[in-house]
Order: sequence, then structure tokens, then C-alpha cells
Amino acid sequence: MSLEKYLETAIEAVIKAGDIIKKSLSSQKTIEFKGKVDLVTETDKECERCIISIIKHKHPNSDFLAEETANHFDQHTQSGDPPRWIIDPIDGTTNFVHGIPWISVSIGLEIDGEVQAGVVYNPLYDECFTAIKGKGAFLNQSPIKVSKTSKLGHSLIGTGFAYERKERADDLLKFLKCAMVSGQGIRRFGSAALDMCSVACGRLDVYYEIGIKPWDVAAGYLIVKEAGGDIFTPLGDPYDIYYPDILASNGIVGKDLIDQFKQIS
Ligand code: IPD
Repeated sequence: MSLEKYLETAIEAVIKAGDIIKKSLSSQKTIEFKGKVDLVTETDKECERCIISIIKHKHPNSDFLAEETANHFDQHTQSGDPPRWIIDPIDGTTNFVHGIPWISVSIGLEIDGEVQAGVVYNPLYDECFTAIKGKGAFLNQSPIKVSKTSKLGHSLIGTGFAYERKERADDLLKFLKCAMVSGQGIRRFGSAALDMCSVACGRLDVYYEIGIKPWDVAAGYLIVKEAGGDIFTPLGDPYDIYYPDILASNGIVGKDLIDQFKQIS
């Protein structure tokens, strides 16, 4: 099966999930707490079921790592394993619950241990970011590139806060203060997948987060890479999608922010 065919299926699935999200954004939500501040709604579950059933129908030999049904995520796929679809049915659940239209559906496809295709869709803005390994990154089928910003002091930096934030507040604030005084501005939009895509299309120059999950960033990882960006851990080590801390940038200013983070660690 070609990566193009797999991507076609993933796009069909995110658009169907997007329709469900659009219909339910302004209605009353059934909310559960997965953790102290980590929300899930009936819509997250419905979108996840819908995405998995579309994929299973077209590609029965598939493996799934999906936010609402995942129980572990520490091993890469090996050569010969079924393709693994890494799914966030609603990235930005808190925004969704509050009716804020900055939400995405994200699907990354891992084959032979690496993400080889990905799609992130914001149904409210009808923006669909896609990438296939080695073939570039696209927004609504037009090629995208990272920004050319060359000074950290001129950089717009995106971030997010993990749900374990109470236990890690001091640490998170140390990084936030450092980013705040190093860059031109900070944004916390509430969807990590869209933050990654914002780096890919040059809206943000850097995005970092401590405590992220693979379904938040798997598709965005490939989209940033294919748009010419780079991705490390916030302390400059090689990044892996199963690692919780991430720093994605335009490939120019990321290293300067890493240097600043090293000084406070
Ligand atoms: C969250 C969002 C948020 C990020 C959190 C994620 P969810 O995902 O991506 O921007 O800061 O770390 O968990 O829970 O809305 O799918």
C-alpha cells in the first residue's frame, strides 16, 4: 500500500471527525475528568471510534495508538509490524469544552519505527496540514515552509502545559520565564498539534512543551520536518515521539533557546 493511499484514508477520517466536532462545538458537552484537570468528552470518544472504524474498514491490518483508548506507548513499531495509526481525536479538548475554535484532529502513521505520513486538521478554520516522508509539507495542498526568523529575540514562541502541571509547576515556570525573556512573545493556544503546524508554516518560530504525549505530536513531527524545521528535546538531545519533552523550531533559533534552557537546568 502506498503512503499516498494511507494519507488519503487519514484525511477522510479527520474530515469526518471534524464534522462531528463542528456539530457539537456549541452544544452542551458531557464531560468526564481523566485526571485532576485532564478532560474528555463524549465527542472525543465518538471521533476516535469514527476514525478507527474508517481506517479499519480500509486497512484491516492496522495497529492503533489513540488517546482515549491507549494504555501504553513506549515501543516503536518494528519492520514487518502492521502500520500504527497514532490518533488524537480532539487535540485541544479544553478549548472544545469552552467553545474556543482552536481545535484539531491529528493522525500520524508510523511504519517500520518512523512516522511516514501525517495529517492535522482544524475543522473550524478548514485548515488541513499534511506530509509524507520525503515529499514536503502542505497546508490545504499548498507547500509550506518554516519561518526565516534568525534571532531568538525576534521569535514568537509557542508552548503548552502538561496536565501534571501542579506537581511540576516550579519546573514549568522556570522554562516559561526563560522563554519569555528570550523571545519576542509567547503564545499558549491549546492544541499542540496545531502549535507544531504553526511552526511548520512559519506562524510560530519555536514551540516547546514539557510533558507531551505521542498522539499530540506524531503527525506534527513529520509536518515540521518536511517543512524544513528541526526537533530536539528542550535540552538539545535527539527527540523521539515517545519522549515527553519537545522543542520544534524553524531550524535556526531553536538551538539558541536550547542554550538558554541549558543554562537554567
Ligand atoms: C493537550 C493540548 C495542549 C497541550 C497539552 C495536551 P488534549 O491535548 O495539545 O495544547 O498543552 O499538553 O495534552 O488533551 O487537548 O488532546
